[in-house]
Amino acid sequence: MATGDWIDVGAAASLANGARLTADVDGYYLQVVRIADELYAFEDRCTHDDAPLDDGEIEGTEIICPRHGSRFCLRTGAALTPPAYEPLKIFAVRQLGERIEVRTP
Ligand code: FES
Repeated sequence: MATGDWIDVGAAASLANGARLTADVDGYYLQVVRIADELYAFEDRCTHDDAPLDDGEIEGTEIICPRHGSRFCLRTGAALTPPAYEPLKIFAVRQLGERIEVRTP
């Protein structure tokens, strides 16, 4: 797998608005979500203390870490509230036909 390859991570049909899917891409455990017909892919690991974000509530295009409450922007990865300061790792994602693909870093 080369840097910049697009990797199939699942069926578009399984990713309705508000739904999430998880994938292991190039050693990263990712979440992909669809919000208002836009796709977002990010590493499923809070940058504060490595908590998984699986159960993190999503408000608009922000996800809230379930452990200590940091918010992250799903568009940019920016940490918006402490105790996290480092950005979430964001991945390029696209829908190609009936499939969802994520680009390797
Ligand atoms: S582990 Fe996410 S805010 Fe602390």
